Amino acid sequence: MVLKGVKWIDLDHGLVDRSIFVDEEIYQQELEQVFGRSWLFVGHESQIPNAGDFVTTTMGEEPVIVSRDKSGVVHAYLNSCRHRGNAVTRANLGNCSSFMCSYHGWTYDSSGALISVPGYKELYHEDMIKGTRDDWGLIKVPRVESFHGLIFANWDETAPGLVEYLGEYGWFLEARVDPQGHGSEVDAVVLKWTMNHNWKFAADNFVGDIYHTTITHKSANLAGHRTRSLGGAQAPAEAEAMREGGRYTEAQSNPDAFRMATKYGHGGGFTLRPADAPLYRGEVSEQMATYLQQRRDAIEQRLGPNRARIIAFNAMFPNFSINSSAEQIHVWHPRGPQKTESWIYFLFDKAAPEEVKRQLVWENSRHFGPAGMFEQDDADNWILSTKAATSAIARRHPLHYGMGLKDNNWLEPKEDLPLRRQGTWGETNQLNFYRVWQDMMWAKSWDELRSQPFEPV
Ligand code: FES
Ligand SMILES: [Fe+2]
Repeated sequence: MVLKGVKWIDLDHGLVDRSIFVDEEIYQQELEQVFGRSWLFVGHESQIPNAGDFVTTTMGEEPVIVSRDKSGVVHAYLNSCRHRGNAVTRANLGNCSSFMCSYHGWTYDSSGALISVPGYKELYHEDMIKGTRDDWGLIKVPRVESFHGLIFANWDETAPGLVEYLGEYGWFLEARVDPQGHGSEVDAVVLKWTMNHNWKFAADNFVGDIYHTTITHKSANLAGHRTRSLGGAQAPAEAEAMREGGRYTEAQSNPDAFRMATKYGHGGGFTLRPADAPLYRGEVSEQMATYLQQRRDAIEQRLGPNRARIIAFNAMFPNFSINSSAEQIHVWHPRGPQKTESWIYFLFDKAAPEEVKRQLVWENSRHFGPAGMFEQDDADNWILSTKAATSAIARRHPLHYGMGLKDNNWLEPKEDLPLRRQGTWGETNQLNFYRVWQDMMWAKSWDELRSQPFEPV
């Protein structure tokens, strides 16, 4: 049975019921209906360049192996032996021609096919009873697609293709992951840590919440944390509003600052940095300065001037983000209604010099990751928001997501810019994210989801 909370999300009044962050039944339904049908990031092609390379990850809570078979095709399948369900590998990554289960020795090749069963002749009499050995390979994720090196997978065969699913979010994503047309890669090290908050608070923060930056990150800003940054410079009014609070009106009226929300829940806030604004703040090495300029020029040449100027915060539904100022991929893996395992991949433009890549890791770890200043600021809030939602009295009262809901500030369509509302401050992106979340929780099929007209919040 599919649960239908009558007032989980109230789009007319901008209200969100707190139970969606803590209720166990809702969470179980979310794993099926949302994570079981969405395109989920499972790794980067640069992690598995050679035949036999693999990485392990999770899709929702499902343990998954992503591997390249001997003919070069990338597969994703459940890391669970078909005999008694044991994991067939316990490694985070590696290279092998086959996976032998450590329980009784059933063995699978790098495409997931079952290639050996101990005693197959003598004990099984070459008869699997139900089906043949071909039917007992590892359980495949039926849809796997790449977007400029990022690998996404989907359990639902009827889901739209990845590009259709991305919609206008692809406008931003391409510039970020393939700035110079040579592709991207990720560092071998992936940061992983666990926090006691619901995964949606993180996604909601990244999809549209610039509002928190003035207060949540004030102490980091006062401590001078932003005196050096590779994220470039905003328009002065917006930068001041973010740093100090206030001057919101001026910042909101900047026509080059807008927010975008898409049919399938992705979104972000984008500022097109002024043409003469510096590409970084504070001191950086000469090599880094040269690289940043060269990358900017390459994007302009390949994708046009607007995308060369983007500064963004953003998220792809349900649990993925690329932080524009920190060159990191964030994935929030659900581990229970009140627990999230956060993963950060360091993302590099393939054309960047090796020294620049090392500097990017060093620099960006200061912001996000278990020791990142901004990460620690953010997580504290998400943990307490989650905890409060467990209490009987607090749960009677929904959360307020009404900022900007009634503003009629749609901007005219313009070449190479997505459907957008003026100003990066507003909670319409978050409401749009929850609209899609609720639709997925209720919809029987992707056909139903696709047929609904897109009415942006
Ligand atoms: S559980 Fe894998 S071989 Fe038995
Ligand atoms: Fe933040």
